[in-house]
Amino acid sequence: MREILNKLYDTHNLEMDELVYLIENADTKIINDIKYHAKALTLSIYGNKIYIRALLEFSNYCKRNCMYCGLRKDNEKVDRFRLTKNQIIESVGKAYDFGYRSFVMQSGEDEFYTKDLLSDIIITLKENFKGIAITLSIGERSFEEYKEYKKAGADRFLLRHETADQKQYEKLHPDMSFEERVRCLHDLKSLGYQVGAGFLVGLPNSNSETMAENLIFLKNLQPHMVGIGPLIIHNDTPLKNYMNGSVEDTMFFLSLTRLLLPKAMLPVTTAVNTLDKNGLEKGMLSGGNVLMLNLSPPEVKEKYKLYENRETKSVYDLDKVNERLKKIGYEAYIKRGDHIDWSI
Ligand code: 5AD
Ligand code: SF4
Repeated sequence: MREILNKLYDTHNLEMDELVYLIENADTKIINDIKYHAKALTLSIYGNKIYIRALLEFSNYCKRNCMYCGLRKDNEKVDRFRLTKNQIIESVGKAYDFGYRSFVMQSGEDEFYTKDLLSDIIITLKENFKGIAITLSIGERSFEEYKEYKKAGADRFLLRHETADQKQYEKLHPDMSFEERVRCLHDLKSLGYQVGAGFLVGLPNSNSETMAENLIFLKNLQPHMVGIGPLIIHNDTPLKNYMNGSVEDTMFFLSLTRLLLPKAMLPVTTAVNTLDKNGLEKGMLSGGNVLMLNLSPPEVKEKYKLYENRETKSVYDLDKVNERLKKIGYEAYIKRGDHIDWSI
């Protein structure tokens, strides 16, 4: 075990069988050692700044049917909404005046926003609000569409791979294929986006091999960001009788991801903060360095319900967040905050 840990700390690389061994045999003492090294590595690269992203959920329409997600097409109980171009500009403008410079635009896979409409929104945002970074999180699209958004001014793109186990992926995502997911991620990288991938912890049929596969997948893809969150049950989905993923496991995989991809932007995800009121602190002390705060207008926030009791913090609660961060030696940073290889 010691040999594997030293290899991880020194080379930031492990083989599949070493990862499986580590995942299966790490006791509390080893887990704490891994966390300690992950945190120290984060500090050595990004210092004590926590990069804040302002998240705007602009549509909860979705044509997909992911088995775990409350926004899936077949869930008829969802009160669907779409923000207009003006509403989007107004929301971003308010947060821009407050000082935010990094915006994430997220939606279900909603074809209402055509290539032209979304490009127009991106161009307008970039024109009106100088110096912002725009991250899109809108799902699977064609190479041409991704290319158009990049040209319009989008800087980054989040598309979690969800699980790197192809069989598991295809069971959980009806009418989708893992191959197509990977195609999207490669296209996004080749187009020059800063790309975010990521996976869910505690999915049905996950085991140590599945989780090791996720880490190897990330190591090969080399994304700039990785979102890792526990599965949280939504009562109007096929997984309603299943159980939530574990926050402790999520922290462990967050630390391992930091050690394997030292420069990655690693958010402490909303799902972690939903399941654990100390999630923020736990996440940062495990190697996280990003936090997303919510920008969506209050009247639509409740409707973006991926899972039960989703706990979102508002961009306008920055003081409270900062107080908590300061207690553990960190501070919020609300400017663009690029991946270290992209900062000037
Ligand atoms: N629990 C946790 N995360 C979820 N997501 C969707 N549904 C759930 C759920 N029930 C995550 C997916 C997706 C991201 C936007 O939200 O990983 O990529
Ligand atoms: Fe749609 Fe995303 Fe939910 Fe899947 S996870 S149903 S793509 S919103």
